[in-house]
Amino acid sequence: MSNDDTDHELRVSKIRNGTVIDHVHGGQALNVLAILGIDGTEGEEVSVGMNVPSDRLARKDIVKVEGRELSQEEVDVLSLIAPDATINIVRDYSVEAKHRVERPDAVEGVLSCPNSNCITTEDEPVISRFDVLDDAVRCAYCGTIVRDDIAAHIDT
Ligand code: CTP
Ligand code: ZN
Repeated sequence: MSNDDTDHELRVSKIRNGTVIDHVHGGQALNVLAILGIDGTEGEEVSVGMNVPSDRLARKDIVKVEGRELSQEEVDVLSLIAPDATINIVRDYSVEAKHRVERPDAVEGVLSCPNSNCITTEDEPVISRFDVLDDAVRCAYCGTIVRDDIAAHIDT
């Protein structure tokens, strides 16, 4: 049994089938929901814990989505804002698979370039592409670097 479970009370209840995105840096849960396109209007069953105590991080956020498994593209984008996240696939209440997110080499069509002169932000049919660096992302077309608040540049 995990520490979370033995820790007097379980803060967010377990899910039956779906995905638990764990070890999200404190404060990023709402951005996780935005990346997954979850705003609650479609009746999705979602639990969110914010700034809960964690062994690995000082404080973590956790997002539990019932009835949904994530695409590789969604996980790639999550890795940009939650680089230490663990993706747990839950089936019939047990964790069937667990993996850490990995930062991809590049992401296409998910971030918008803050440079208004960039070809990707003009009226051209060019899909954005950002190379993923250790601590930032860089527009492959104009070289603009985005280091802080990458979530603000996500096209949703
Ligand atoms: N979880 C859940 N519903 C389930 C099973 C697990 O919500 N039916 C959650 C747990 O609460 C935990 C996460 O999924 O937040 C991972 O579960 P588990 O691997 O059992 O916990 P730990 O061993 O603590 O995970 P880690 O080692 O990744 O910290
Ligand atoms: Zn650009």
